[in-house]
Amino acid sequence: MNKEIIVSGIRPTGNLHLGNYLGAVTNFVKMQYEHNCFFFIADYHSLTTHPNPKDLHNNVRQVLVEYLACGLNPEACALYIQSDLPQIPELYMMLNMHAYMGELERVASFKDKVRNQPNNVNAGLLTYPVLMAADIIIHKASKVPVGKDQEQHLEMARTFGNRFNRIYEKEIFPEPFAFNYGKELVKIPGLQGGGKMSKSDGDGNVINLIDSPELIRKKLSRAVTDTGPNEMNTKPSDAVQNLFDLMKIVSGEDKLLHYQNLYSNCAIRYGDFKKDLAEDMVSFLTPIREKIAEIDANHQLLKQVVQIGKEKASESANKTLKECREAIGFKPF
Ligand code: ADP
Ligand code: TRP
Repeated sequence: MNKEIIVSGIRPTGNLHLGNYLGAVTNFVKMQYEHNCFFFIADYHSLTTHPNPKDLHNNVRQVLVEYLACGLNPEACALYIQSDLPQIPELYMMLNMHAYMGELERVASFKDKVRNQPNNVNAGLLTYPVLMAADIIIHKASKVPVGKDQEQHLEMARTFGNRFNRIYEKEIFPEPFAFNYGKELVKIPGLQGGGKMSKSDGDGNVINLIDSPELIRKKLSRAVTDTGPNEMNTKPSDAVQNLFDLMKIVSGEDKLLHYQNLYSNCAIRYGDFKKDLAEDMVSFLTPIREKIAEIDANHQLLKQVVQIGKEKASESANKTLKECREAIGFKPF
């Protein structure tokens, strides 16, 4: 198989949830053995929201621990912390010289921020896509496993890479494209009847990988349902369908079929259904939660992982940056 260079970053905003795990991390775990993968924790990006230093460190550490517990293997991929690579801000600065106000102001995620947080419209937010482009093209990535919401940022990464090539008349950067690993994009639903599981909809909507069995039971007991079917063979509401979808993942087809039949016959009792789902959710997540605790206690391991990741990612970044510096006209005396 053709080995691609793959880059993906995640903002350190707390614990990973089941959606992050099944929608992204399980794919990374497979990809790391098939491609040349760079996975990093995007702590420079998180500075746009001015996190307090202690929270920032703890959040970075938590993502690292959880990535490892999920099966990312620091030998198989480059797993690193973005701020361990000063090469990234150096390339970001170079790219910024050819990034124009007009195009940056038109980016949808920037316009959202201007609308939603008018008191903190800083230059880092405006140039967020430039930093993201630097993350990606510094390793000459061809593929970036991200969802639809990042498509515009990827398009800008292509624009900035191509522009650099054209201006300095060197073919340094290939074009990076979004990457759907596997046949279809999985979407893990949330517990509150809406769309996907997302931490932006509050803690009650998500099952985190570290949630205790008690908390999982509590969250599921509060999961949104409806008043129940009152006619045979009706279609479940979105909220109930979401719970069926979760059951399919953590309990399997047979149990799902059982409850779907009860639903069709108007005999389902949501209390029992949710309790059963909660127990399977607990069984599904217990090995991961235990692994997280084990890795969390192993500070020496984390230190080593971070060091190895930094070395691997730096080697690749240094090569690209050397080409960029030369292309620009920075020459050693
Ligand atoms: P959140 O929506 O909770 O803020 P992020 O946007 O930080 O999560 O997502 C990080 C990664 O996890 C992305 O690759 C995203 O596609 C994936 N992901 C997040 N939520 C889900 C979900 N409910 N289903 C599938 N994948 C998801
Ligand atoms: N912007 C991405 C997000 O919000 C995170 C990110 C930063 C990223 N740099 C990246 C993703 C490079 C992929 C590649 O989810």
